[in-house]
Amino acid sequence: MKISILFGITFACGFFGNFISNANPLPYEAIFNFGDSTSDTGNAAFDHLNVMEKLIPYGSTYFKHPSGRQSNGRLIIDFIAEAYGLPFLPAYKNITKIPDDIKKGVNFAYAGSTALDVKYFSGISGVSAPKESLNVQFDWFKKLKPDLCKSKEECDSFFKNSLFIVGEIGGNDIFYHLSKTITELREKVPLMVESIKNTTNALIEEGAVELVVPGNFPMGCNTDILSKKISQKKEDYDEFGCLIAYNTLIEYFNEQLKKSIETIKQKHPQAKIVYFDYYNDAKRLYQTPQQYGFISDKVEILKACCGGSGPYHHDEYWCGTPNTTVCSDPSKLINWDGPHFTEAAYKQIAKGLIEGPFAYPSLKPAPFKIA
Ligand SMILES: *[C@@H]1O[C@H](CO)[C@@H](O)[C@H](O)[C@H]1NC(C)=O
Ligand SMILES: *[C@@H]1O[C@H](CO)[C@@H](O)[C@H](O)[C@H]1NC(C)=O
Ligand SMILES: *[C@@H]1O[C@H](CO)[C@@H](O)[C@H](O)[C@H]1NC(C)=O
Repeated sequence: MKISILFGITFACGFFGNFISNANPLPYEAIFNFGDSTSDTGNAAFDHLNVMEKLIPYGSTYFKHPSGRQSNGRLIIDFIAEAYGLPFLPAYKNITKIPDDIKKGVNFAYAGSTALDVKYFSGISGVSAPKESLNVQFDWFKKLKPDLCKSKEECDSFFKNSLFIVGEIGGNDIFYHLSKTITELREKVPLMVESIKNTTNALIEEGAVELVVPGNFPMGCNTDILSKKISQKKEDYDEFGCLIAYNTLIEYFNEQLKKSIETIKQKHPQAKIVYFDYYNDAKRLYQTPQQYGFISDKVEILKACCGGSGPYHHDEYWCGTPNTTVCSDPSKLINWDGPHFTEAAYKQIAKGLIEGPFAYPSLKPAPFKIA
């Protein structure tokens, strides 16, 4: 008698649970992400025991321990996953349970990685680009595919309901070339963009239907660039203290990327390709910081929260190593450690993508608010 009651309850719950999930499915079944440290949730940290994302201040605001992310908390990709009711994406390298771990998406992003393959950076002194370029990340996806779905039908149906995010990537290609002139950097942009286009096309050929291609951030406002490229000429800076030449370079990069998205759309009219305007989404934070909860001081707002000395609180010492300090309230600053944003900045950027107006066209409506 007892047993039959238990069965009855289990059956009822199971039925009701299925009924709810069928009536109200999530907009995306899974998210697959490719990129660099701005979206790496643990791949580089898995490979290297002592890299920065394992130092104590990393993760301190949200995870309360270094979480393999190069920030004090969540990244844009984490806020996107939350808004769409999905778990934080597991890092590809750290997957243990197949298929359970990978059903709702996988993150292939790798800190330090580049749009172009590592061979393009071999001759540059002082630069050691990781081998995990965008092409390598795509190869990981191909390798994992037989575990994601079995037949073409199964893959098509799964990928049709998944979101594929290709980038941001290319920022490191520029970082590794900082010894070059802006003109030399500009000449390298078309090849970087071609690589992003190639991977996006290849994913569509694998069955992806809805894809996001983010542009790049305003690097002229990036604390690492500001401290490495200090200029004595006032006219090199805009009214917000950002380096005009590097922002103009990124505007060029993003224009090229948007053009290449148009060619992908022509080739694959059935695909939906969303452009994330990281540039303007992030730039507004520097323009009216107080509107987004940051400090309003025009000099302080450009400094890193966690770092060493110098005009930007950022030098050769990495956040978390001796001779560095952490600011008292990371939620008041845009920059975390020089190259990377704080969780507070990533949250505002993610809001601008999910709630608008910085996604073109917008994603499917998100069932949850970013909080
Ligand atoms: C790997 O995943 C486990 C849990 O699944 C987590 O505790 C650990 O921190 C992860 N490692 C890295 C390097 O991200
Ligand atoms: C993009 O793909 C084309 C065609 O396969 C290839 O010739 C080209 O080298 C690729 N470009 C990059 C940057 O990977
Ligand atoms: C920290 O700074 C002091 C004083 O400049 C220097 O002597 C020391 O070597 C630095 N520590 C590290 C780990 O670089």
